[in-house]
Amino acid sequence: MMLHIPGVLSADEVRHLRAQLDAAAWTDGRATVGAAGAHVKRNEQLPEDAPLARELAQYVQQALNRNGLFFSAALPLRMSQPLFNRYDAANAGHYGFHVDGAVRAHAQGPGWLRTDLSATLFLCNPDDYDGGDLTVRDTYGEHEVKLPAGDLVLYPSTSVHCVTPVTRGVRVCSFMWIQSMIRNDGRRTMLFELDQAIQTLRARHGESAELVALTSHYHNLLREWSEI
Ligand code: NI
Repeated sequence: MMLHIPGVLSADEVRHLRAQLDAAAWTDGRATVGAAGAHVKRNEQLPEDAPLARELAQYVQQALNRNGLFFSAALPLRMSQPLFNRYDAANAGHYGFHVDGAVRAHAQGPGWLRTDLSATLFLCNPDDYDGGDLTVRDTYGEHEVKLPAGDLVLYPSTSVHCVTPVTRGVRVCSFMWIQSMIRNDGRRTMLFELDQAIQTLRARHGESAELVALTSHYHNLLREWSEI
């Protein structure tokens, strides 16, 4: 499932991040990929262990932690440190078709994170730049994503994807990976849709015995399928 989550950050929060990012020391994004990735990647990143990168990552992480829709859709078990990247038309910034690595170091301690979900949080508006579409391929074809500043897209890390060349302006985003309590995308999608339907029914009709039964099924399925 691919999901657009609006308003993860407010306009003020985006401005706060951008003020610091626009003055930051960016480095070549090819530093963080293997030989295969280096051929197709032309962007800049903040070094993961730079104090500013860690501080801004925490800011993004706190916004994700308070977002109920993100939690419902991702059911996060572990997350990578949110990272930041920049695609500048001056360098023909782009990232060709690739798949994200299946495992990587995670932010909450030693060990590994399995990348079940990839997320991009937009820190610029669509009219700030031309090109720079996140293009995600799945069994239904190719989907092009370019969202307003503060919005996030969540998609399965199994998908082949790219960022098309930026031809005007600069595209600045944060991105991160999530290991979900529910590894299987189909099961995770079912739980998300059930949870959203329950919440909508509760808002529309108030509590009822049927909603308690549905909620019980949601939690019992989560208990059955979760890997924690
Ligand atoms: Ni990627």
